Amino acid sequence: MVPSILNGKTVAFALSGSFCTLAAAVAQMRVLRELGAKILPVISHHVRDMDSRFGTAEYWRRQILEASGAEKIIDNIPDAEPIGPKHLCDIMIIAPCTGNSISKLANGVIDTPVLLAAKSHLRNAGPLVIAVATNDGLSANARNIGKLLNDKHIYFVPFGQDNPSGKPNSLVAQMDQIPHTLELAWQGQQIQPILTCQAPA
Ligand SMILES: Cc1cc2nc3c(=O)[nH]c(=O)nc-3n(C[C@H](O)[C@H](O)[C@H](O)COP(=O)(O)O)c2cc1C
Repeated sequence: MVPSILNGKTVAFALSGSFCTLAAAVAQMRVLRELGAKILPVISHHVRDMDSRFGTAEYWRRQILEASGAEKIIDNIPDAEPIGPKHLCDIMIIAPCTGNSISKLANGVIDTPVLLAAKSHLRNAGPLVIAVATNDGLSANARNIGKLLNDKHIYFVPFGQDNPSGKPNSLVAQMDQIPHTLELAWQGQQIQPILTCQAPA
């Protein structure tokens, strides 16, 4: 097998509060580790604090620690700040990335550990990969996704409509494409095609 270009790289893996897609994203941490990457996990305040029908905050903390192999999770703004200045990662992904985090990132609002990690990493012109998961991707957040698609150093995991008849504005990334998207982003390339045709739920 050809070794992955991610072998030996540190991936800041940030998770925001799309609770129904957390499991699929966390599973990709294991795949990245198998490819030789080191994972630096980062979570938003909501992932840190919120219990939902998809699991308690404590449950997700344990899942993330186990999947990432990390000793700690960056879950507050002061701990996220050094990511850029101290070059703590080579590449960063936000997966899942909520509509809330997409809109803030697109408009320079930085008020969660995930967003400060992204800002801090972009300061170094490092590649940032986004895996969207939001019900308003084709409505209120379409303009923000469009802006980020056109921004330097930002790459997207292929995404599509997950339920066009039931949730016509919803967009979700194909989390199993995360490793390959990161490999290409590290080389300055956007994986193609960006738009996927997903089977209706
Ligand atoms: C059970 C549950 C599921 C949610 N799923 C999503 C989702 O898939 N996508 C999304 O954009 N927001 C979702 N939200 C709303 C976000 O958690 C909310 O907008 C929050 O402010 C996101 O903050 P963050 O981006 O800092 O994590 C969900 C909320 C709950 C309680």
